Amino acid sequence: METTIKSQDDIYRPHLATVLKSEPMTAMERFFELKLDSGRELGNKPGQFVEVSVLGIGEAPISVSSSPTQKGSFQLVVRNAGNVTRAIHNLKPGDKLGIRGPFGTNFPVEGTMKGKDIIFVCGGLGLAPVRSAINYVMDNRKNYGNVTILYGCRNPVERLFINEVKNWASKDRVTYTETVDRGDENWKGNVGVITTLMTDMSVDPGKTVAIVCGPPVMYKFAIMSLYKTGMTADNIYVSLERHMKCGVGKCGHCQINGLYACQEGPVFKYADVAEVKEAI
Ligand SMILES: Cc1cc2nc3c(=O)[nH]c(=O)nc-3n(C[C@H](O)[C@H](O)[C@H](O)COP(=O)(O)OP(=O)(O)OC[C@H]3O[C@@H](n4cnc5c(N)ncnc54)[C@H](O)[C@@H]3O)c2cc1C
Ligand code: FES
Repeated sequence: METTIKSQDDIYRPHLATVLKSEPMTAMERFFELKLDSGRELGNKPGQFVEVSVLGIGEAPISVSSSPTQKGSFQLVVRNAGNVTRAIHNLKPGDKLGIRGPFGTNFPVEGTMKGKDIIFVCGGLGLAPVRSAINYVMDNRKNYGNVTILYGCRNPVERLFINEVKNWASKDRVTYTETVDRGDENWKGNVGVITTLMTDMSVDPGKTVAIVCGPPVMYKFAIMSLYKTGMTADNIYVSLERHMKCGVGKCGHCQINGLYACQEGPVFKYADVAEVKEAI
């Protein structure tokens, strides 16, 4: 997997960005569209993250949710979890924030995934980083085989990008299926955890790559379901979140038993972390 190399100056210095759009998505998450004031492209690869800073408050790692095929701006989905993310939620169009990065490894859209069938397994907020790869694949459709997108949320009101999903589902050789742990009075779709969508999957294990991203509890069960189709750890990629500070391999906050999640991750080939204690 490739990592974006930055000069020492670049890795510590936030670059000013302007909020172009801020829209509520759910009770906890907001969608942001941003533009770097320098006018340059962010240059992210699908799956990478940026360190977002609010002056006087602090900094938080947030995945880039837009594909690099989108030019002129980039997008984030931010869950209000504490001081920094609350301050980001309070920003209005025209307000400024700081951006370092993009950092970390990426989903191998130009590597192992190319020419393959792709299964995206996303839980909750995990759709935000994976959307970058989904839209990359959609914008380069001829380079990939069949695409299956599985999305699971706790309940219907927590689903993200519900309008964009309809566009994905309408594309050639794309299957989109969603489920919720608990329905409500208007919900007519699937009810059950995400693995209930994986029981009848028809997979050609030799020519399929799976991407898994979601809450910690999801990984083990989703990977077990992928194994049942004949897939191996070499063709499964996971995105793992850990508490981070520097984001650039200097402080050690993100360590998973010797692995630096900010540099060797957040995207890992499952084969590389399957035996690492506390990784999954
Ligand atoms: C690589 C990476 C990508 C991320 N992408 C996104 C994203 O796209 N959208 C998004 O909303 N959030 C994302 N996060 C999580 C986000 O960074 C944290 O929610 C944020 O740092 C919390 O900061 P805060 O100051 O608002 O809250 P704090 O006051 O620092 O913490 C609030 C609560 O969140 C917990 N928390 C803090 N950091 C993390 C973390 N990394 N993982 C799990 N829990 C955490 C704390 O333990 C505490 O309970 C990502 C994290 C990483 C490491
Ligand atoms: S966050 Fe500092 S080393 Fe990874």
